[in-house]
Amino acid sequence: MTPGIRPLIAGNWKMNASAREAVDLAQAVRAGATGLAAELLVCPPFPYVAGVCGLMAGSGVAVGGQDCHTAVKGAHTGDVAAAMLKDLGAAYVILGHSERRADHGETDALVRAKAAAAIAAGLVPIVCVGETLAQREAGQAEAVVAAQLSGSLPEGFEAAGGVVAYEPVWAIGTGKVPTEADIAALHAAMRAQLGAKTRLLYGGSMKPSNAQAILALANVDGGLIGGAALVAADFLAIAKAAG
Ligand code: 13P
Repeated sequence: MTPGIRPLIAGNWKMNASAREAVDLAQAVRAGATGLAAELLVCPPFPYVAGVCGLMAGSGVAVGGQDCHTAVKGAHTGDVAAAMLKDLGAAYVILGHSERRADHGETDALVRAKAAAAIAAGLVPIVCVGETLAQREAGQAEAVVAAQLSGSLPEGFEAAGGVVAYEPVWAIGTGKVPTEADIAALHAAMRAQLGAKTRLLYGGSMKPSNAQAILALANVDGGLIGGAALVAADFLAIAKAAG
């Protein structure tokens, strides 16, 4: 944790859940989201964003998208504008997730442009960074993340409340987690690069059994949760571990 920063526990549902399951999951998260110190956020697939925004209204649970386009509107078949998410009541958008960098060839420059578009539309961007296993084993993790941060964060990121999520690619969906010392070192390096106000999340195989130890580390201001966010009880247990 960082003194003065409210923790953020964010669920990235990725491309999961039927329409019915999305409603059930959102309702269960809402029902358990009282009296928490942490801010809660759920990021459903685009087709469910409107419905989940409606279900979360008045609950204090924030809703986000998993991507947005750089343009305000126009001829971009299949894409979603930041203003559309904002219009539905979303407050956040995840950008530059390693799955999008891998599946769609997203570069730091593109992520930066998307983050600028999100800020312009009034959304808070959550920009994801993280090294591959080969980069970690070559001792390049901190250098890779530093370069991703300098390339992916636009002007005004901190002032807009921008969030950074450190997600080592090799820890996502694998059950593998870096050592607490490695997470702490990486987050300290990000803190030194970014300044005191930016919320720094950890993501990658977070679950109820490891959340408390990870969230207690200096400069870890919350988590970006994948698999465990699809089970309301697990997501809420992680949220409780944030204090
Ligand atoms: P898992 O929690 O399933 O490892 O996913 C992490 C992630 O990619 C969140 O964005």
